[in-house]
Amino acid sequence: MKVTIFGTGYVGLVTGTCLAEMGNHVVCVDVDAGKVERLKKGDVPIYEPGLEPMVIRNHAEGRLDFTTDAAPAIAHGDVVFIAVGTPPDEDGSADLQYVLAVANTIGDHIDRYTIVVNKSTVPVGTADRVRAAVAERLKQRGVDVPFDVVSNPEFLKEGDAVEDCMRPDRIVVGSSSERAIERLRKLYAPFNRNHDRMVVMDERSAELTKYAANAMLATKISFMNEIANIAEHVGADVELVRRGIGADPRIGYHFIYPGAGYGGSCFPKDVQALARTAHSVGYDARLLGAVEAVNDGQKSRLFALLSKHFDGNLKGRTVAVWGLAFKPNTDDMREASSRRLMEQLWDAGAQVRAFDPEASDEARRIYGERDDLVLVAHPYDALEGADALAIVTEWKAFRSPDFQRVKSLLRTPVIVDGRNLYDPAIVEEAGLAYYGIGRGRSLAGREHG
Ligand code: UDX
Repeated sequence: MKVTIFGTGYVGLVTGTCLAEMGNHVVCVDVDAGKVERLKKGDVPIYEPGLEPMVIRNHAEGRLDFTTDAAPAIAHGDVVFIAVGTPPDEDGSADLQYVLAVANTIGDHIDRYTIVVNKSTVPVGTADRVRAAVAERLKQRGVDVPFDVVSNPEFLKEGDAVEDCMRPDRIVVGSSSERAIERLRKLYAPFNRNHDRMVVMDERSAELTKYAANAMLATKISFMNEIANIAEHVGADVELVRRGIGADPRIGYHFIYPGAGYGGSCFPKDVQALARTAHSVGYDARLLGAVEAVNDGQKSRLFALLSKHFDGNLKGRTVAVWGLAFKPNTDDMREASSRRLMEQLWDAGAQVRAFDPEASDEARRIYGERDDLVLVAHPYDALEGADALAIVTEWKAFRSPDFQRVKSLLRTPVIVDGRNLYDPAIVEEAGLAYYGIGRGRSLAGREHG
């Protein structure tokens, strides 16, 4: 099939590449000429395992191309995807200007039956707005071209994006047009594996499904963080509680890891946007507000623990930070907990020596050159002359460090573990003070034992 994709961000680029991999002819459109040039050369601007070789191969084999030129790209596609950004505007609602601008462009150029598929995460009702925008432009042109608008949200995870796209657990298609549904059934058939993954529904339900999925996952995390905070106060260990509840299949082990809070491009934005949508129709989504508030508090936990350890005086101290990305296997630092920690440390007059396997360039881009941030190339280099080590991202490389080496390099031997990677007993045996998230038992043990 011939496919056009607007937007070469995570969603657009991964979707386009996977569709090309399945034998479709895909043209990706982006307004950023520099990015388009890089992509044509096989230089993928984001770090996503497996993506770059797939882009290079499909481009070389003529199934995947990149352009800034919307008109011929629209003429190419039987199916035109909208996968542009929906950043939050000042009040947390999703800003639809890019989505609607693409809808206008589509309306300006289509000249045969076209399926417009919205993949961007958009508030309920956006399919109607896209339909209206396309129809308006057709009217202005004085032509009557048939088209359908479909809501087809994307559920890929950064770091696993290619795998998620090639092997989806479900493909949500929101449409009231049989013709569009049948075309998409064909397009997605190769992704079905053993059974039909397509869940067909109306546009609004599809739009809400995306927000509901992310809000549910964010809720699980904030719930566990709340339990972790209670555990700390009552002298229980949340890691044991986690295992104890996860064994119940109705709860499950996934997404109940307490930590320094969730970040990334989706959860913070989507929880907020869903709350705004609810508010706009007169419903007060109290649970969503609490999910966000707990997460916000959680992002400050590492600083609070460090501050407590150093009796509120971090001025002149140096803190080693392991992990800057909002999660492993990405260089993305959007809403990352590391940012809150570093900013709080700087405000308190402390220095940061940070290591991340992928995100150093991103940190440099965000913060520029500054005296109180040293980015190092090896994990142990971060510890040189540091007073404490804070773990913010659970990269595999941090899972089993040489604690003796950590101890000998740190000026004061203390680890603040924002992802509960270590067994407190082992760290303490090595002669380091240890603070995790919700590990009340070990804290109580140290304070009273
Ligand atoms: C998420 C959804 O998983 C995906 O389906 C959706 O399409 C986009 O949003 P992503 O943002 O890539 O994907 O990251 P994810 O792996 O879900 O992690 C989000 C954040 O939650 C990370 O900061 C992670 O550290 C944190 N997290 C995750 C926890 O704190 N505890 C957990 O148990 C799981």
